[in-house]
Amino acid sequence: MHSSIASFQWLLYIFTVISSLQVSAVRFKIPRLSPTRGTILQNPEILSATISEDFQTFYYNQTLDHFNYRPESYSTFQQRYVINFKYWGGGAGADAIAPIFVYLGAEEALDGDISVIGFLTDNAARFNALLVYIEHRYYGKSIPFGSREEALKNASTLGYFNSAQAITDYAAILLYIKEKYNARHSPVIVVGGSYGGMLATWFRLKYPHVALGALASSAPILYFDDITPQNGYYSIVTRDFREASETCYETIMKSWAEIEKVASKLDGLSILSKKFRTCK
Ligand SMILES: *[C@@H]1O[C@H](CO)[C@@H](O)[C@H](O)[C@H]1NC(C)=O
Ligand SMILES: *[C@@H]1O[C@H](CO)[C@@H](O)[C@H](O)[C@H]1NC(C)=O
Repeated sequence: MHSSIASFQWLLYIFTVISSLQVSAVRFKIPRLSPTRGTILQNPEILSATISEDFQTFYYNQTLDHFNYRPESYSTFQQRYVINFKYWGGGAGADAIAPIFVYLGAEEALDGDISVIGFLTDNAARFNALLVYIEHRYYGKSIPFGSREEALKNASTLGYFNSAQAITDYAAILLYIKEKYNARHSPVIVVGGSYGGMLATWFRLKYPHVALGALASSAPILYFDDITPQNGYYSIVTRDFREASETCYETIMKSWAEIEKVASKLDGLSILSKKFRTCK
């Protein structure tokens, strides 16, 4: 039940964000969709402290532009990735082939994610998996052009800030890691949430030779431009509550008409506000 509510709140947040499409990033106006965010991201000191000693940080010399051959395309920037070797049962000298689970960073610094994305660590022991977390370009410590100010300066520098470049970054790093840790035959499973889930999906479609599978959580892949019915969110949430408790489902279902009735009164909204202790 608790996890149902947690995931409900998570979904609600994501879709609130999607419907408003106006969320300010910490210092720069960078759109955000992902479940994890907060003031923790403002302070780089706190950031690094959230990564435990199981996680080792690396930097990859990433190509700025994967899609053309102009001279400046070959310039590189340092892209951060983090590996947890604690459960790894593959690589050189290992008898078995073990998988690599990869968290694809989304629209924020990686640090906040690593402390809250339990799915990889929860499943790593059972599969003797190598865990890899890769930061999305233009976030955290994976900033091209030397600084955030430069990177976000104008169209010339912002032009490299897109999801097609991002998933290609991931492919390059994963191929490099497989080579480096003698894991060429290890199946790769990419994982992401929200925008990161869309990246995971697109990654699997675009680079099927790199990832054997993708897990996309709360990813609104087809939830745009009326491709799918727009009540999809509500029907899933309804099912979620219903699975936990039929009574709970019925009670909530009956409540809407009641809430509408109160809300339509003159001071109805303030009554509801008090009753539900809503914020401003
Ligand atoms: C990345 O590039 C820097 C500067 O060109 C170089 O010193 C470093 O060895 C490179 N790192 C890797 C892992 O290739
Ligand atoms: C962005 O800024 C750089 C350096 O100031 C300049 O050379 C470039 O022409 C600018 N690009 C655009 C699209 O304004």
